[in-house]
Amino acid sequence: MHEDPTKNLIGSSSSSSSSINMSFLFARGPPRRGPILCIVALLFLLVLYQLGIICTTTKEPPNAIMMPKDKYVMGSGDQKVYPYDRNMPLIFIGGVPRSGTTLMRAMLDAHPEVRCGQETRIIPRILQMRSHWVKSERESVRLEEAGVSKEVMDSAIAAFCLEVIARHGEPAPRLCNKDPLTLKMGSYVLDLFPNAKFLFMVRDGRATVHSIISRKVTITGFDLTSYRQCMIKWNQAILMMHKQCREVGPDRCLMVPYEQLVLHPREWMQKILGFLDVPWNESVLHHEEFINKPGGVPLSKVERSSDQVIKPVNLEALTKWVGNIPEDVVHDMAELAPMLSILNYDPYANPPNYGAPDKLVSENTRKVLTNGQRWDNMARELDLLRTVTYLPPQIANNASTDNDVNNA
Ligand SMILES: *[C@@H]1O[C@H](CO)[C@@H](O)[C@H](O)[C@H]1NC(C)=O
Ligand SMILES: *[C@@H]1O[C@H](CO)[C@@H](O)[C@H](O)[C@H]1NC(C)=O
Repeated sequence: MHEDPTKNLIGSSSSSSSSINMSFLFARGPPRRGPILCIVALLFLLVLYQLGIICTTTKEPPNAIMMPKDKYVMGSGDQKVYPYDRNMPLIFIGGVPRSGTTLMRAMLDAHPEVRCGQETRIIPRILQMRSHWVKSERESVRLEEAGVSKEVMDSAIAAFCLEVIARHGEPAPRLCNKDPLTLKMGSYVLDLFPNAKFLFMVRDGRATVHSIISRKVTITGFDLTSYRQCMIKWNQAILMMHKQCREVGPDRCLMVPYEQLVLHPREWMQKILGFLDVPWNESVLHHEEFINKPGGVPLSKVERSSDQVIKPVNLEALTKWVGNIPEDVVHDMAELAPMLSILNYDPYANPPNYGAPDKLVSENTRKVLTNGQRWDNMARELDLLRTVTYLPPQIANNASTDNDVNNA
């Protein structure tokens, strides 16, 4: 760290005095008293130094380190204090957008101990910026020369992410983040947060792409006018995430097939909470009862899935895509998206047999289908239908991309 001025002072009087100063003392005093005077002088200086009298600045410990102040999330109502740090067991929900990541986080948000909240948008962006810096050899050299080592960078980016995750929503003992594309940088996220875990939402790519196109969800690299191009892009994105999930291993990343979560919510939520070491609570099966409630499921007025997760878990979205994909694309499906077969979705079945739903889900679906008006009203009350028109038109026309992390 800083050079301690007293070090030089003491250094010169102790080391160099043996030659120069001593001969000076020898020359002036009687020969035999020289060494004694010298030792006395040294002891005197040492005592002054120990007392801090000849120090102009405060004494630093020999190996100084920079230490951040402790940070806490303050509890609101109950005034509980939750410390947060890089070693906490964060939960990250990832997947290709429109694969059930919002449903997943809503079900976890309904749990009293977990808070995910809305997409932060800036976490995947900063992770991608860092990956660009590291990939550029020139930039890496410049950073290293500037003292921005891997360690400094990692701790700065971890602090940025942690601060956003901890403080963009309500305090909770278990914090969770849902920015779908973060999983692309999954193994790096685990470098930053060694005890984090991933939930990887997987959904039939045909359903995902139909949803992206029909709901006009903009994702960098996806051409919303072409099912063919979107299927190829879906395949690339999910391939990359699948690789990351495998790389970090089954202790750190759990694949959750959206269709199975929707058909068998109890079985899958038991599996998921077990994986996350979160105790079971029935509330995760009734997330719709906790919308915008304290400690519940906060919704963004401008996220595209908000008007869907106000409904209980139901089968509405499972097979909407059937009949909406151009013939030629359906015909080439197996070659366009080989990941379908790898993830056990029959590319030739339209639709494949996803399985039979639990009783709870059939009942929910009946309610949703017979009471359509009720959910529209609720969406209007919560102001969720303004997704497209929420921004003033001149800004809306240039609205930022829903998901703007590159595929590369
Ligand atoms: C489940 O959560 C509710 C609040 O959502 C809480 O009142 C209840 O005690 C919890 N039950 C268990 C078994 O933890
Ligand atoms: C919108 O984008 C276009 C082209 O990218 C730009 O020329 C225009 O100034 C932008 N308008 C606003 C209001 O930002």
